[in-house]
Amino acid sequence: MNKIKCLVTAGPTREYFDPVRFISNPSSGKTGWHIAAAARNIGWDVSMVIGPSQLPKLDGVQTFPVTSAQEMLEACRPIFRQSHILIMSAAVSDVRPKYPLPQKAKKADIDLHPELERTPDILKILSSEKENQILVGFAAETENVIESAKKKLADKNLDCIVANAVGIENCGFASDYNKIDMILKRGEIVDFKAARKDVLARRLVDFLAARFFA
Ligand code: C5P
Repeated sequence: MNKIKCLVTAGPTREYFDPVRFISNPSSGKTGWHIAAAARNIGWDVSMVIGPSQLPKLDGVQTFPVTSAQEMLEACRPIFRQSHILIMSAAVSDVRPKYPLPQKAKKADIDLHPELERTPDILKILSSEKENQILVGFAAETENVIESAKKKLADKNLDCIVANAVGIENCGFASDYNKIDMILKRGEIVDFKAARKDVLARRLVDFLAARFFA
């Protein structure tokens, strides 16, 4: 078989109100970064679309830095078409200001009730455009983790989803540790246990390689 082409998204997105103020979340990009590294290490051809992050460049991974959800969608689209698998681990901001300002608002002029709108659901859009790609989503939740993840798996028509408990101390966002379960389309659940993010990334990629590309 030719090299598996894998698209990984990582990090948060930023949705600006004006040039110095934005909506975002505490994602560090580590989960996606480690997944991209693990996929490269098993010989996959990896592209990574990554939101604002402090992480170093990954040798051997084609990296596309973006800022907003809209930019992430536009960067992913052409790569997705050429990919065998999409691993959507980015923590995409759910909302954005509807009317971002071109100049910094003076403090006294800040709109205290800015109108917001939803960002594009990148995974759902790519899922609706998919041909034969395997789609892997993430569900970061503080409660009802498995149930919410199952709902997203069905709603976004995914092959599997990684349920990620972000409510546990020292796990999830910005931490080096995480606790994940993999939920598959037909309801099977695989517990990947709590571990360092680089270890979990290897477990995840090995699992995907064995399940979908063996
Ligand atoms: O809908 P929800 O944000 O809970 O679903 C999480 C999954 O959807 C993650 O894989 C995330 O990367 C993706 N997502 C997306 N575009 C959004 C919001 C989430 O692709 N606007």
